Amino acid sequence: MPIQVGQKLPSLRIKVAAAQGGGDVLSTDELFGRKNVVIFGVPGAFTPVCSNQHVPGFLAQEQALHAAGIDLIACLSSNDAWVMGAWGRSLSAFPALTMLADGNGEFTEALGLGVDLRQGFLGVRTQRFVLVARNGTVQHLGIEEPGKLEVSTAEAVLAALGQLPTD
Ligand code: BEZ
Repeated sequence: MPIQVGQKLPSLRIKVAAAQGGGDVLSTDELFGRKNVVIFGVPGAFTPVCSNQHVPGFLAQEQALHAAGIDLIACLSSNDAWVMGAWGRSLSAFPALTMLADGNGEFTEALGLGVDLRQGFLGVRTQRFVLVARNGTVQHLGIEEPGKLEVSTAEAVLAALGQLPTD
């Protein structure tokens, strides 16, 4: 069962890819606890839809998201920090995006947003989704149907932000 609007984000440790390689382990409370955040999940670094559409959409809307009150935009995938770092560099995503390297899939699993892609030889990955959380509590969640990129785009989040209460 996926996390629901009104629930707290899971409290655990996750690796954040560094622009220069490697990464730092931080607590999700530290990262998200006192901020307005957008977290979007993707099934894999360097995969076509993620690289060509999903991430570039968030990069294009970075300023608009900040203007709408978002402090941090994070991209989550079940990949290691080296891969997430290389992917971020390849897309010029640093420092606009915080690249969350959920190599163990623990944050993804705790969110209830894993997806079994073993049929495609990808293993268990992060479902394509987006959420907005304020001070650690989920305010909006959009989970894509398989193969779709509609409800988790940066534009969809901006539209959702316009409907959310401001305090
Ligand atoms: C993609 O194109 O983003 C993608 C491809 C295969 C599996 C998951 C995602």
